[in-house]
Amino acid sequence: MAEVMVVTSGKGGVGKTTSTAALGAALAQAGQKVVVVDFDVGLRNLDLVMGAERRVVYDLINVVQGDANLNQALIRDKRVDTLCLLPASQTRDKDNLTQDGVDRVMDQLRAQFDWVICDSPAGIERGATLAMRHADVAVVVTNPEVSSVRDSDRIIGLLDSKTLRAESGSRIEKHLLLTRYDAMRAERGDMLKIDDVLEILSIPLLGIVPESPEVLRASNLGTPVTLSDAQSAPARAYADAARRLMGQTIPMTVPADRSKGLLNKFFGRRAA
Ligand SMILES: Nc1ncnc2c1ncn2[C@@H]1O[C@H](COP(=O)(O)OP(=O)(O)OP(=O)(O)O)[C@@H](O)[C@H]1O
Ligand SMILES: [Mg+2]
Repeated sequence: MAEVMVVTSGKGGVGKTTSTAALGAALAQAGQKVVVVDFDVGLRNLDLVMGAERRVVYDLINVVQGDANLNQALIRDKRVDTLCLLPASQTRDKDNLTQDGVDRVMDQLRAQFDWVICDSPAGIERGATLAMRHADVAVVVTNPEVSSVRDSDRIIGLLDSKTLRAESGSRIEKHLLLTRYDAMRAERGDMLKIDDVLEILSIPLLGIVPESPEVLRASNLGTPVTLSDAQSAPARAYADAARRLMGQTIPMTVPADRSKGLLNKFFGRRAA
């Protein structure tokens, strides 16, 4: 039975698209049949992060409007053969994304894949509510800062009221993914503490992804971070999060302050 998962946030620029690509790739690497769907009409970012921008011919709106069938629009990943992308349109207006059309496409995707992962646009407008409408599972991407946490709280309210699950009286499974976590800033008290974020949002923690230059490097290469450098700290955090989504129990890793580790080593050596 397919799981539809929305990656959402409210606030922009927190790491939704990065997380969609990384979780999608990690689930596919684990043998799951995955499609990542770009709901961010007008911006079209997911294809760049997936390295597929030159292969886009048809997009979600073409399929919604019946100009192309689903198989014409799906782009199969060249690195992991169980991973596909359904891109967004950069040129069309997001009003072309009709609810009936999205319902039809999601039904077809459910029949073909184990995981349908929807990359939501920022905000709480129609694009975001369409992206979450069919979700069984939501990953609420949050940075440890006040504005991001506040917007995540609003999104959690929408998940509990504007989804098909909410309409039918059942609950959507919600997970918190803390991203861009900077251990040095956390130590200095410049960021909200993990426990405070958990207390405010009170949904289970799926993972903590550290702020890392590897994420930008991977994005510039057009490679999900779990594929570009599987041993990097963000890749390991995403791979663990993907295993948790598959129901495995994996201990939570809080990213350490690496500069402090290096300083300790440096001074330790000098003192020796
Ligand atoms: N863990 C991280 N470490 C460093 N940079 C990151 C990390 N996660 C995301 N970024 C960077 O932050 C920026 C925004 O990320 P991304 O596009 O994934 O966010 P988004 O939530 O999808 O944004 P939007 O709301 O505009 O769709 C990108 O430049 C990305 O490379
Ligand atoms: Mg995005």
